[in-house]
Amino acid sequence: MDGFVEFKNVSVLRGNRKILDNIDLSINSSENVAIIGPNGSGKSTFIKLVTGKIYPSYTGDDTVCKLFGHMRWNIRKLRNMLGIVTNELEHDFQGDITGLETVLSGFFSSIGIANNHIVTKEMIQKAEDMIKFLDVSFLKDKKIEIMSSGEVRRFLIARALVNNPQVLVLDEPSNSLDIASFIKFHNTMRKIAISGTKIVLVTHLVSDIIPEISRFIFFKNGKIFADGERNEVFNNEKFSSLFDIKVNLKENNGLCSITPS
Ligand SMILES: Nc1ncnc2c1ncn2[C@@H]1O[C@H](COP(=O)(O)OP(=O)(O)OP(=O)(O)O)[C@@H](O)[C@H]1O
Ligand SMILES: [Mg+2]
Repeated sequence: MDGFVEFKNVSVLRGNRKILDNIDLSINSSENVAIIGPNGSGKSTFIKLVTGKIYPSYTGDDTVCKLFGHMRWNIRKLRNMLGIVTNELEHDFQGDITGLETVLSGFFSSIGIANNHIVTKEMIQKAEDMIKFLDVSFLKDKKIEIMSSGEVRRFLIARALVNNPQVLVLDEPSNSLDIASFIKFHNTMRKIAISGTKIVLVTHLVSDIIPEISRFIFFKNGKIFADGERNEVFNNEKFSSLFDIKVNLKENNGLCSITPS
């Protein structure tokens, strides 16, 4: 299925401020995309629209807000096509549950497993396969409350992947990772992209960018500031005007970095 996101004239109003302002944007399900912008530019708000958590503030005749070709989605059904990992989700998972239970909860779009959830052998197998893919099998029976942030993040990604989503949305995924965990995580994102799940990466850090990302959408002040292929927008000039500071971008062995110039 193509057409993951089809937005026309989409705005989100909070108070009397447009925190997203007339967004026109299409993302198909066959591209890896980075959404980049300064703090407060509207990235997470955009992701809330894309994950069906909020709706546009206006629904005039000219507003289109379609996900996978449909205007309205049953959230549960949407989540079977879309894996989501955000910091908010990480805050939700702080209880007394194991890594395996965390991943299994992805089948029910729930936070943990309830008594009325029927967990099948196939579900356990799939969850264990994903846990292995994320290299955290040794932690699967441990409680997530004793895990580090980077470890929990891996279980949440495994949780997001159990339904074989077409697209995995990651909002600021490397938050609070130390350098070793960050490198591991970077490789994991690459592994996921190479395996065929498309990635929509939301970040203000260029170090999060993986070589498999081909399209860059820049947000600034609630608007789309630039949108293009890597060779069109991933350059010093565009980044400097995006962040209002002169910067130098570098790319080395698949890792990007940025310094003031
Ligand atoms: N519910 C809300 N009520 C009022 N203002 C809001 C609300 N949600 C977001 N905002 C404001 O909208 C702007 C965009 O917020 P958003 O979280 O989308 O930014 P962001 O690009 O994800 O930033 P960051 O890089 O810091 O995560 C911010 O200025 C924020 O304060
Ligand atoms: Mg954000």
